Amino acid sequence: MKLRSLLFVPGDSEKKFTRAAGSNADVLILDLEDAVAPSMKEAARGIVGGWIDRADETAASLFVRVNPLATGLTEGDLEAVVRPGLAGLLVPKADSAADVAVIAALLDRLEARAGMVAGTVKIMVVATETPAAMFALGSYTPPHPRLVGLTWGAEDLSSAIGATANKEADGNWTEPYRLARSLCLFAAASAGVTPVETLYVDFRDTAGLEADCRRSRRDGFMGRIAIHPDQVDTINRCFTPSDAEVAEARCIVAAFAANPDLGTIGIDGKMYDIPHLKAARKTLAAAGVEA
Ligand code: COA
Ligand code: MG
Repeated sequence: MKLRSLLFVPGDSEKKFTRAAGSNADVLILDLEDAVAPSMKEAARGIVGGWIDRADETAASLFVRVNPLATGLTEGDLEAVVRPGLAGLLVPKADSAADVAVIAALLDRLEARAGMVAGTVKIMVVATETPAAMFALGSYTPPHPRLVGLTWGAEDLSSAIGATANKEADGNWTEPYRLARSLCLFAAASAGVTPVETLYVDFRDTAGLEADCRRSRRDGFMGRIAIHPDQVDTINRCFTPSDAEVAEARCIVAAFAANPDLGTIGIDGKMYDIPHLKAARKTLAAAGVEA
């Protein structure tokens, strides 16, 4: 399952689903949480359930962002959306992997009820939205079998700790959120699941998004959340390895294949060892090509 571009669609807007379904997003995240007003929560469950029945109208995988466990709404959300066509959940405000286990147990029951193969519905977690979560990022290793990705968020974390801002005047994250971002990256790499960069809020600033995505890709993120359809193509482009990167990766993999007894190889005057080989294989996998 590709987790390169993941577009949020508020769960109470019929029009936005149609628009999102026609985008090039790998995943649509149908939102029942904070993009939906409390008065619309019940209606949104029905609307999102109906969208999942239309899963074959889009090439994207359909995920639902449910309400967090502490609200008491999660089980009702799941009752409404676990049905054929649902590919995954985005779990917000998780405190640790224990939340994943609780939700997975609910999924076990609801998948069986819906006649779905056990384990079909995958889980991605917003892993840095509560202060407690910051001390539990190691809990995602070893990963639950349903866990496919970790992402992070600054808005809920800053409101929970009482910060007055989370960005510097130049637009960069302040220290607490740089820490959250880095720990999310390490937690995902440790668990062997996909690290997904948080959203870029200025949805009209395509150049800014592009530059920011390049930094994210450089640091190891493999995909990004989108909040507007216009962000999707930029995200897809930035998180797809370039032709030059693919060519270099092929070259590294081929050199090691031709020299199976060597752990270190020189290519064009540069040293390559096993970490480079692993990175090259990752690049080829991200590009969807065979070595
Ligand atoms: N998914 C699908 N369609 C979307 C969309 C989205 N996330 N965001 C915008 N659109 C649609 C609009 O409905 C509009 O459609 P129309 O031309 O038929 O009227 C079109 O794209 C152009 O939208 P635009 O005028 O540029 O933006 P907007 O002011 O209507 O919407 C937001 C701005 C931020 C409200 C909207 O992008 C949005 O709802 N984003 C998702 C928010 C969300 O889910 N947040 C939760 C995670 S933080
Ligand atoms: Mg939030």
